[in-house]
Amino acid sequence: MNYLASEKRYETMTYQRCGRSGLQLPAISLGLWHNFGSEDVFSNAREILLYAFDRGVTHFDLANNYGPVPGSAEETLGRVLKQDWAAYRDELIISTKAGYTMWEGPYGDWGSKKYLVASLNQSLKRMGLDYVDIFYHHRPDPETPMEETMMALDQIVRQGKALYVGLSNYSAADTQKAESILRELGTPCLIHQPRYNLFDRWVEQGLTDVLDKRGIGCIAFSPLAQGLLSNRYLKNIPSDSRMAKAHFLKSSALTEAKRTALVGLNTIAQQRGQSLAQMAISWLLNNPTVTSVLVGASSAQQLGNSINALDNLSFSAEELKRIDNCCDPVVRG
Ligand SMILES: NC(=O)c1ccc[n+]([C@@H]2O[C@H](COP(=O)([O-])OP(=O)(O)OC[C@H]3O[C@@H](n4cnc5c(N)ncnc54)[C@H](OP(=O)(O)O)[C@@H]3O)[C@@H](O)[C@H]2O)c1
Repeated sequence: MNYLASEKRYETMTYQRCGRSGLQLPAISLGLWHNFGSEDVFSNAREILLYAFDRGVTHFDLANNYGPVPGSAEETLGRVLKQDWAAYRDELIISTKAGYTMWEGPYGDWGSKKYLVASLNQSLKRMGLDYVDIFYHHRPDPETPMEETMMALDQIVRQGKALYVGLSNYSAADTQKAESILRELGTPCLIHQPRYNLFDRWVEQGLTDVLDKRGIGCIAFSPLAQGLLSNRYLKNIPSDSRMAKAHFLKSSALTEAKRTALVGLNTIAQQRGQSLAQMAISWLLNNPTVTSVLVGASSAQQLGNSINALDNLSFSAEELKRIDNCCDPVVRG
């Protein structure tokens, strides 16, 4: 069936400026790490993507290795871009990354110029694109000189293969160093993509200060701790859940401390008239450093629930304190 985007797609989404750049991102973006690979059902993946765009989600985040099989999430997006979104390319912000293992041998991993340039060329082919909007270095490489990695990012922008560049999983100190190198080269660092959620607040120990000072945007990944921060795991492990299916979220992550925290957080969310997932998203957006919350979803219905977090973004001081009290044993480990 031919797809026509909803005429109302820009009516309810909020867009926030990404650091000190010209680019605005939707408060909620969609990631294709899980549920968009060749082993997933294409019709469901397509439904989620089209639903997202109809709700004003203009930013879709990928990486070379997303699947399974690695690379296939980019192919899925490429199919949708071709069959449904050909008329909408200029309304979309597509990002991809390289930094984790992608192919065999010394040139398919980490942070060399050889790897980054070759990987982005492959990603562009899989998605059928001339350029991506944002290209990230996916993780710091302790062995490649940072200058080389940043020069590769700079060159990629100058070649027109990416409009902006970003860093992911870089520490506060490494971000500072990388940003200085990029600035000197003339390619600003647009954005940082760290894991950030109620249970994992490492970014607050220095990274957010660096981002604020340097004018770098922040897109928080795994905002629901891969689905833990939802009502899915309050009682047991549902058979269709990520914890039951995929090896990235192990049942050992569901500790007694976490389950107790989830029950407490769920009560607060209910009192706010939100689902737990919605409250976890609103809590992140309450932090002015956060430009966008990068959610995953296994169905369009789930994504709809997450987007509706935008209906209630304010927290009383008492609610914030109660939330911190619930999370404290988990955050402190
Ligand atoms: N840069 C990096 O190193 C890095 C690492 C990880 C992720 N990321 C990016 O961040 C994106 C999001 O990560 P993530 O998938 O871990 O995010 P997440 O939002 O924390 O988890 C998504 C999972 O939560 C569950 N869920 C989603 N919405 C829900 C709702 N409203 N109610 C109940 N459950 C809900 C679903 O689990 P079920 O499948 O069980 O239904 C869904 O698959 C990725 O796609 C990727 O783009 C980046």
